[in-house]
Amino acid sequence: MTNEVTRESKRRWDLFAEDYAKRTSKFGDLHKEVLLTPTILSLLEGVEGQKILDAGCGEGYFSRLLAEKGAYVTAVDFSARMLDIARERTSNDAAIDYRQADLEDLNELESSLFDQVMSNMAIQDVVHLDAVLGEVHRVLKPGGTFIFSILHPCFVTPESGWHRDEQGNGLHWKTDHYFEEGQFEQRFGTKEKVFGFHRTLTTYINALFSTGFTLETLIEPAPSEENLEKYPDFKEDLRAPDFMILKVRKAY
Ligand SMILES: C[S@@+](CC[C@H](N)C(=O)[O-])C[C@H]1O[C@@H](n2cnc3c(N)ncnc32)[C@H](O)[C@@H]1O
Repeated sequence: MTNEVTRESKRRWDLFAEDYAKRTSKFGDLHKEVLLTPTILSLLEGVEGQKILDAGCGEGYFSRLLAEKGAYVTAVDFSARMLDIARERTSNDAAIDYRQADLEDLNELESSLFDQVMSNMAIQDVVHLDAVLGEVHRVLKPGGTFIFSILHPCFVTPESGWHRDEQGNGLHWKTDHYFEEGQFEQRFGTKEKVFGFHRTLTTYINALFSTGFTLETLIEPAPSEENLEKYPDFKEDLRAPDFMILKVRKAY
């Protein structure tokens, strides 16, 4: 299902891979370390001995965490450059099979292969959501779970952001154009711009249901007291959530 938009998205991720990887340490960047990585790990149903797919693995930090805990990991990304970096950062004896593929077409992976599929901050970047969910569903064993984090679709819209006073204090977080679904450019504070796709919460939930998943858990991660003491700037994350994490299950 590769089309012009997918090709351009992939080209941009290749260009951005180096910069993106620079901001990723063992537990991800700071937002991932505080809000996403521990939440996703807590939702997995065991790790040791599990066959897990990391969908949209990027430079592979999550795959390495899973492999360290004893999982057999298949890590897929469509960016060749991301995968080069992932392989450079992975020791030869780690049980990680890195593969270059579009999540819309995982034909190299047989059906009902994985106990669990996880995806960290990649699903809002895919061009055709239904195709990706269909492939994830196909490669999961019956009863298997799909756990994924995305930008919170209700608060992070193409024109969202802080409205600040002259001192830089956040007056309020503004969102707009919620119902205008489609492609937008994510900047990550550098000149490179990668594609994201804004979809409403309704679109996400209905796409999951029509694929055949049932929804088990939804988490809007917020910083704990302990996190706030260590990283006071995270108090802004209590005003509006940036992320949403869902756990869904394929029927037995
Ligand atoms: C925001 S990064 C997240 C990477 C990694 N999961 C992490 O948490 O660091 C999104 C990743 O999804 C990949 N990606 C986007 N669309 C994809 C697609 N259709 N198929 C495979 N990979 C895709 C990009 O190349 C990029 O590496």
